[in-house]
Amino acid sequence: MANPALDPKAVAGRAAADLVPDGAVVGLGTGSTVHFTLLRLAERMRAEGLRILGVPTSVDTERKARELAIPLTTLDDVESIDVTVDGADEIDPRFDMIKGGGGALLREKVVASITRRQIVVVGPNKLVARLGTTFALPIEVVPFARGTVQRAVRRLGADPVQRTRDGVVVRTDNGNEVLDARFPDGIADAVALERAIDAIPGVVECGLFLGLAHVLVVGHPDGRVEVRHKPV
Ligand code: A5P
Repeated sequence: MANPALDPKAVAGRAAADLVPDGAVVGLGTGSTVHFTLLRLAERMRAEGLRILGVPTSVDTERKARELAIPLTTLDDVESIDVTVDGADEIDPRFDMIKGGGGALLREKVVASITRRQIVVVGPNKLVARLGTTFALPIEVVPFARGTVQRAVRRLGADPVQRTRDGVVVRTDNGNEVLDARFPDGIADAVALERAIDAIPGVVECGLFLGLAHVLVVGHPDGRVEVRHKPV
């Protein structure tokens, strides 16, 4: 079995869990890196008596949190979230991100929007100079509007592909579909692009997370952890 001390995802995910204060309402992100955050939070609950209330960003994370006996709440019952730990598919030097590789972008963005301290956990492979250069931009769409959105996104210069897994169309936790939009030269102006995509009828949310991250935790394959704060 791989040594978790040398797995960048485990290194970052666990280190971020150690930044969560006692008594916090915690947004629980989605993905294979946050998986290690959940494990470490549960460890801390047992070892130190850490008390938290989690808000899961996907059905998958909710199931994992329940298995680990992490107490959960919903957005009906909390107005804001103290700290969220979530992964990213790409993050640039301004801490702008592409997310949604796991299809949880809508709930992740809602949770991020009311989070005071968003901690992003990644391995070094997620650090990019320009968004869209290594990863296609996920766009959650209402199934009825897929074709229309696809044509509109094409006019924005991308090649949007309907997400499938083993030949089956992927549905999000919200019953929608995902288009993965590849921009041949990356994304030059993420703010303008987000505005343009959000204006297309039938788009539910896009995976651009701009100005939402505060702390970046990078796990390295030699076991080192690097904590960076958003540049001012
Ligand atoms: C889920 O939809 C995504 O936004 C994830 O947060 C992102 O894909 C990172 O996932 P990993 O930690 O599994 O790479």
